[in-house]
Amino acid sequence: MSNHPPKITATHVNVWYGAKKAIDDVSIDIDQDSVTALIGPSGCGKSTFLRTLNRMNDTVANARVQGDIRLDGEDIYSPDMDVVQLRARVGMVFQKPNPFPKSIYENVAYGPRIHGLASSRSELEGIVQTSLKRAGLWEEVKDRLSDSGTALSGGQQQRLCIARAIAVDPEVILMDEPCSALDPIATAKIEELIHALKGRYAIAIVTHNMQQAARVSQRTAFFHLGQLVEYGATTEIFTNPREERTRDYITGRYG
Ligand SMILES: Nc1ncnc2c1ncn2[C@@H]1O[C@H](COP(=O)(O)OP(=O)(O)OP(=O)(O)O)[C@@H](O)[C@H]1O
Ligand SMILES: [Mg+2]
Repeated sequence: MSNHPPKITATHVNVWYGAKKAIDDVSIDIDQDSVTALIGPSGCGKSTFLRTLNRMNDTVANARVQGDIRLDGEDIYSPDMDVVQLRARVGMVFQKPNPFPKSIYENVAYGPRIHGLASSRSELEGIVQTSLKRAGLWEEVKDRLSDSGTALSGGQQQRLCIARAIAVDPEVILMDEPCSALDPIATAKIEELIHALKGRYAIAIVTHNMQQAARVSQRTAFFHLGQLVEYGATTEIFTNPREERTRDYITGRYG
């Protein structure tokens, strides 16, 4: 595993939607140098848990989060935490690519501009270019930066959304089923990208695709009915799980 302390530590996390408990006493560390996969049957709470890590549940009207979540030791639910800043540090990529209805350039430049990350136009252009390169999209869009982001293919839109997350210089990237709307070729591109980004950013990815979890992650967390059933090295989880519920799920017996 990692030589660094965990990037994120989540301890005794509970989440309710109204009276319904969706996450039940989950404790997890997210490694700096690993890709962490969150797997489990539909409705088990993967998205809900992922959203606790950058306070996206704050935007869900009836959601209530309890527990301790720290980013580099800092309590992200502290009243002093600047949530806009937090979401730049812990970026998110969603299932459905959601570029702004603006140019490709503006999609990437927007974040750095509002966070004041560039002191000149050329510096901003540099950030846009670097982000698109890291997202593996530059070659495909360098001659059409003023075209609308929504005019790209689904797979390109998803890489644009990754570029947008990268542009504000995040520390962690959360991905919630980033490939589920993509074809196998676009999916392979995103998986390559995840490999390339590993180490630079701590990454947590929700996926329903067991092969994908095995390919891209080094650590895997299996959720079931709001609980964390098992968490460990991906190779262990997939070849020698400790829990029967994990074995049943990864062998496709339910879910
Ligand atoms: N906004 C909401 N209001 C009320 N209940 C919700 C809300 N969002 C999720 N839930 C409930 O919380 C539980 C966990 O949902 P969540 O979306 O986190 O599951 P998931 O593991 O991401 O599922 P999937 O694999 O289908 O995306 C489910 O029972 C779901 O119905
Ligand atoms: Mg989900």
